[in-house]
Amino acid sequence: MTTDWKALESKYYMFLVRRQPVVIERGKGTRVWDVDGKEYLDFTSGWAVNNVGHANEAIADAIAKQARTLLQTSNQFYSIPQIQLAQILVENSALDKIFICNSGAEANEGAIKLAKKYGKKHKNGAFEIITALNSFHGRTMMTVAATGQPHYQEIFQPIPVGFTHVDYDDVDAIKAATTDRTVAVMLEPVQGEGGVNIPSAGYLKGVRAWCDEKGLLLIFDEVQTGLGRLGTLFGYQSFGVEPDIMTLAKGLGGGVPIGAFLAKDFACAFEPGDHGSTFGGNVLTCAAAYASTKYILDNDVPANAKAMGEYLQKGLNTLMSNHEFISEIRGMGLLWAVVFNSDMSPAVVAACNRAGLLLNPLRPNAVRLMPPLTVTREEIDEAMERLEAGLVEAAKGG
Ligand SMILES: Cc1ncc(COP(=O)(O)O)c(C=O)c1O
Repeated sequence: MTTDWKALESKYYMFLVRRQPVVIERGKGTRVWDVDGKEYLDFTSGWAVNNVGHANEAIADAIAKQARTLLQTSNQFYSIPQIQLAQILVENSALDKIFICNSGAEANEGAIKLAKKYGKKHKNGAFEIITALNSFHGRTMMTVAATGQPHYQEIFQPIPVGFTHVDYDDVDAIKAATTDRTVAVMLEPVQGEGGVNIPSAGYLKGVRAWCDEKGLLLIFDEVQTGLGRLGTLFGYQSFGVEPDIMTLAKGLGGGVPIGAFLAKDFACAFEPGDHGSTFGGNVLTCAAAYASTKYILDNDVPANAKAMGEYLQKGLNTLMSNHEFISEIRGMGLLWAVVFNSDMSPAVVAACNRAGLLLNPLRPNAVRLMPPLTVTREEIDEAMERLEAGLVEAAKGG
């Protein structure tokens, strides 16, 4: 008798997400297979996590080797994988020091605490942080408060104070919101969950100049854009603007749960005891993240993301010219949204599922595509055929 995993899930798991009706059992590269053996092209990548593809050999080897050597040591002791990961990330970024944690929300939580400590130490107790409307920074109470989407906040009121939300892509809005209490501006270089919103040329440079003028810290949340997603190792490199603090997670571990925040030396305001984590910088996750980061660098994965992103854009443009119900495509690297002129995203996602393509329902009227950064032209061609089939079926009301 086959196990009914969907029934067991609804019996035992908290109902927090409307899952797509696919029980994924295994993956390889850009493809995954469900429990019935059906194959899919995975253009969700575990929510922009599997940057180097599913079951990547380099990561699997690193995990297996580390699991047989040492799984956990507290941060009271030195740990080789932690130091190796710190070195590779610092040496390949514009930041000087790192703290490693376990998720994107935790990375942002740490970056916010660091900014507040900086304000206490160097800016007369300034503590407010300006973030953008439609941003997404995580699910802890502090990152819910940082997130510029009221529907994530309302049910949890009262939430932490100290965040001001302004329009994205508007430097003047940041200027107008800046007060003596402001210590930092926190932005995603490209907003992911908020709609795949690409800033206008000059926006991030303008924000950088304002932060320099006012002595504010510029924090980039690169949880989704980091590690190659936009076609450069870090998103900030695509815009020629360096942050003072940067957060990472998602693609950092190639599939294992890990996050990090990095800072320029001058912004490292923490002192011993100010912050910490039992599992942060764990040897297993650091070994996997080191293998993944090295793979990304050795194989110039960001260059593939850039080239394949341009190729995907062409495919999406062709689909848009064939279907008048597609109103817009927008994106960069391998992070794309397809926007419809009606709320047909659930029907498109379901039809694409049947056609063998996994997509993320971003909005009722938009889907998000974020394949592994190792995706090939042939796989994109195949994905476009499956997307076309799904679109046709969804448009017929299927
Ligand atoms: C930009 C950004 N920041 C933070 C987060 C939260 O990361 P996590 O789910 O690992 O806590 C996400 C997750 O989607 C994200 O996209």
